[in-house]
Amino acid sequence: MDQQYSRYIRILDTTLRDGEQTPGVSLTLDDKIEIAQQLDKLGVDVIEAGFPSSSEGERRVVKEIKKLGLNSQICALSRCTKKDIDAALECDVDLIHIFIPTSSVQMKHAVNMTPEQVMSSAVESIQYIKKHGVKCEFSPMDATRTEKSFLHKICQEAQDAGIDSLNVPDTVGCMIPRTIFELFKELKSFLKVPISAHCHNDFGLAVANSLAAVEAGADQIHVAVNGLGERAGNAAIEEVVTTLLVVYGYKTNINTRLLYTTSRLVSSLSGVSVQINKAIVGENAFAHESGIHTRGVTEHPLTFEPISPELVGRTRKLVAGKLAGTRGIQVELNEIGIYPNEAQLTEIVQRVKELGDKGKMITDADLIALTSAVMGQVIGEEKIVDLCDMAVITGLKVLPTASVRLTFDGKEHVAAETGVGPVDAVLKAIQKLTNNLGKIKLSEYRLEAITGGSNAVAEVIIKVEDEKGNIVSARATREDIVMASVEAMINGINKCLLKNRNQGKKQ
Ligand code: KIV
Ligand code: ZN
Repeated sequence: MDQQYSRYIRILDTTLRDGEQTPGVSLTLDDKIEIAQQLDKLGVDVIEAGFPSSSEGERRVVKEIKKLGLNSQICALSRCTKKDIDAALECDVDLIHIFIPTSSVQMKHAVNMTPEQVMSSAVESIQYIKKHGVKCEFSPMDATRTEKSFLHKICQEAQDAGIDSLNVPDTVGCMIPRTIFELFKELKSFLKVPISAHCHNDFGLAVANSLAAVEAGADQIHVAVNGLGERAGNAAIEEVVTTLLVVYGYKTNINTRLLYTTSRLVSSLSGVSVQINKAIVGENAFAHESGIHTRGVTEHPLTFEPISPELVGRTRKLVAGKLAGTRGIQVELNEIGIYPNEAQLTEIVQRVKELGDKGKMITDADLIALTSAVMGQVIGEEKIVDLCDMAVITGLKVLPTASVRLTFDGKEHVAAETGVGPVDAVLKAIQKLTNNLGKIKLSEYRLEAITGGSNAVAEVIIKVEDEKGNIVSARATREDIVMASVEAMINGINKCLLKNRNQGKKQ
């Protein structure tokens, strides 16, 4: 280990197992393979790939992931039964993670077993796994609500039976940092095997509790991308890893620059969007609006950022709004190659504030349009991508389908797509065509009716994001929702391409 780090903390990622237990999430085999490959690139020590006994499909997933020959170790979850363990063994995994309830409430009401039955089941299962020469991590489920003397006893017996590591699940997330610290200190005082923490986020403390466990000597943390998992989820990998590195100065094997891409991939495949203000990977995590902040970060990023966005694969974003300062707006415009003079800049800022005071969200495209008006020039109107024509079909017993014809790169391109509705179909068709242009994807879609009635004017606000993490917002207002959506999308794509093209260019 490098001299500069005093400890190495192992990371077990359970996005594909506990993460998939997120209500409403269901990943296909291909999704799981893509996520496993990304987790491997990210550098996680262990990928918990699934629960083989739960279904034939799940068994296939774990087998296929194991066959990829990744650097990360592949782990399968199993109950303490021969049938479950055999299913895990059949997948040829490196590690089997077995669990059994140990709290009174779960022993009685979840599995209807006595403490003696739980003990013997755990010990026999560990011995069975070890007899097959496979590594075993044991979880006394609901450990943090388990009667202390029974918890100590089962951990000791599990160690004597040959486990390679012990996991301490805070199954219903009821610990606080002080109590989990004390629990880990106790277990560390008599156990020799490495210990993991598996913290759930029911009270929003999963990350804090995982870090407290590390302070008390935990060797490994169970995490999931974007904090996915049962109920309120597990500890978020991006938060745990970045804090370990930056705040504690501890090493993990994670390439932090891939954290954001990984978050985006998991969000898009799982369909669970990341809250805007989530640490590290939320849209606003490196966004600044108020004058004092934008001035500060452009002078010296450490004024209002604890880490550089690049460390986690992100870029800084300065946002135009009623609190915005001149400097922030100037930087935002310069980034897309627009250089107003001082008087023009003052006028632009004034107009942004007026709109903000009226409660209007100012999209990036609005800022450019407003700047064009102030500077008396047509700016940012260059249509790198232009719509030639489009058609949508929808109806009863008809799969909504759209075809679009766009021009870019001096050529015409045509694509058709189906969707859950006409807007979905048409936006998918556009993205199919523009996928190669900086991998721009729709990241947010908002529809509002400005007037009432069936002929209401609809306002569509979209956000698109490119592969560099640039996020650009645009709006369009029309009576036809499909046309408003297409116009906003093409507008956003053009502004994003413009931003990308001018990034780093100076006047
Ligand atoms: O939260 C939990 O207790 C679990 C077990 C399967 C370890 O996920
Ligand atoms: Zn769990």
